[in-house]
Amino acid sequence: MYLQERVVENRLIGYPDQGIYKLVLYGQVAKSAKPGQFVHIQVSDTYDPLLRRPLSIAGIDQDREEVTIYYRVAGKGTDLLTRISVNEQVSALGPLGTGFTIPHTGELLLIAGGIGVFPLYSLIQVLSTAKVSVKLLWGGENQEFLESADFNYLKYLGVDYEVSTLDGSLGYQGLVTDLLEKELKTSKTPTGKEIKSARLLRAAACGPRGMLKAVTAICLKNDIPVEVSLEERMACGIGACLGCVCTVRGKDGNLKRKRVCKEGPVFDGEEVAWDAEV
Ligand code: FES
Repeated sequence: MYLQERVVENRLIGYPDQGIYKLVLYGQVAKSAKPGQFVHIQVSDTYDPLLRRPLSIAGIDQDREEVTIYYRVAGKGTDLLTRISVNEQVSALGPLGTGFTIPHTGELLLIAGGIGVFPLYSLIQVLSTAKVSVKLLWGGENQEFLESADFNYLKYLGVDYEVSTLDGSLGYQGLVTDLLEKELKTSKTPTGKEIKSARLLRAAACGPRGMLKAVTAICLKNDIPVEVSLEERMACGIGACLGCVCTVRGKDGNLKRKRVCKEGPVFDGEEVAWDAEV
């Protein structure tokens, strides 16, 4: 559904070099948005660049009718997006795609790589933390990046977390997959219960494809079901152009193609054929 949303906020947050912006939209999208879904936003009135930009929903406030989106300037399209002012209307298609499963009990381990943390913010936001124990593992380049990606908001959400940076400037020095291995090596689950009794432990991850592949392998080795949010270039965003397909293995063992914008972006990690040609 094409909607006109009003821009409530569109500003650089954190260190300018990191180029991370927070965009808040007021309108219809918030009414039905789910964690893990995205919106396809028209970044300018011109045909250059022609395409909309798919942006993950990072926060949903149905009472205020607002969704929060974070984006990192990575080219002409996102640069044009930075020029949209407060109170302007933008054309938004959405909410689109299939989001994360929302557990109502048990334990949820979240694993984020870089800006992959943003869709996980919206998942944390809707969880009933009185009933679901949550821990987030988040890896980024360095402290500047993590702080620019609204680390303070993560603290505000009040869930248990651990971070890693490549240069050791904040948290553990190394990859987030190292953190995950460390967490699962202990005899306890990340939130402190014995693994054997925690049958409802599950995981959700978002980040670069290589990281998601490694996270899936680690989780499955530990008998933990994991959902992953895949990133693909998208043209139409509504399942019509087949420009965003990924390869999955069906229950019959055969490879098939699925559209990241429609059947995804969230998939069962076990289902994704990580090494198949797309
Ligand atoms: Fe067109 Fe997914 S972007 S089918």
